[in-house]
Amino acid sequence: MRLRNVKGAKNIIEKSKLVVDDYQNYQGQYKKIFNNNNPIHLEIGTGKGKFIINMAKKYPNINFIGIEKYDSVLVRALEKEDYIENLRFIRMDATYIDDIFKNEIDTIYLNFSDPWPKERHKHRRLTDSVFLKKYDKLFKDKKHIIMKTDNRKLFEYSIIEFTNYGYKIKEISLNLYDDDITENVATEYEEKFHNKGFPIYKIEITK
Ligand SMILES: C[S@@+](CC[C@H](N)C(=O)[O-])C[C@H]1O[C@@H](n2cnc3c(N)ncnc32)[C@H](O)[C@@H]1O
Repeated sequence: MRLRNVKGAKNIIEKSKLVVDDYQNYQGQYKKIFNNNNPIHLEIGTGKGKFIINMAKKYPNINFIGIEKYDSVLVRALEKEDYIENLRFIRMDATYIDDIFKNEIDTIYLNFSDPWPKERHKHRRLTDSVFLKKYDKLFKDKKHIIMKTDNRKLFEYSIIEFTNYGYKIKEISLNLYDDDITENVATEYEEKFHNKGFPIYKIEITK
C-alpha cells in the first residue's frame, strides 16, 4: 500500500503529538515516552492505523507503538486521532528496528505484511528469519508474535520460518472468521479481504 503525494503529510507528521520523531534516542527506555511500566506492543507495517488505534482504546493498560514506512500512509492514521495516551507512531523502515528498541517489547503484531512474492525478495518479508533475528533483540523476555494475513503462500512460508527458528505455535487459524472472534480487532486490510470472502489466516507464536 503506497499513497503518493499526500499534500502536507510531512508537516502533519512533524506536528503530531502521536509521532515520536526523535525515536533514535529512546533505545531501552521507551517506557519514558509513556511514563509508566505497562507492557509495550508493537505493530510493524501499521498502515492507516485502524488496528493499533482500536487496540489502544480497548486496552488502556498496554502501550502501543505503530511502525510505518511511508509518510503518505501514516498521515491517514494521524487524521483519525489527535492524541491517545497509550499510543505512538514511528515513521521508519523496520529494516533498522533492532537499532531502535532493546529488551522492552512484549508482543509484535505483523498484520497483512507485504508478501514479496518473488523468491529473490524473500528476505524482505517481515516474517523471514532475517527479521526474526532482529526481533530477538527487541523482546523483554518471552518472545511473542501474532500474525494475520490473507496470503496463504506468505502464511505457509512464515510458519516454516517461525518453527525453524524455534518458535512454538500457541494458536493457529486457517479461517479466523469461522472461529470465535469476539476478542478480534480488525485491520483495514482484514476488513477489505474478509468482505471479499477471502479466508483470514492467523498464527500466534512464542519462544
Ligand atoms: C499491506 S499493508 C497492511 C497495513 C495494515 N497492517 C493492515 O493490516 O491494514 C502493509 C503496510 O506495511 C508497511 N510496510 C511494509 N514494509 C515495511 C517496513 N519495512 N517498515 C515499515 N513499514 C512497512 C507498508 O507501507 C504498508 O503500509
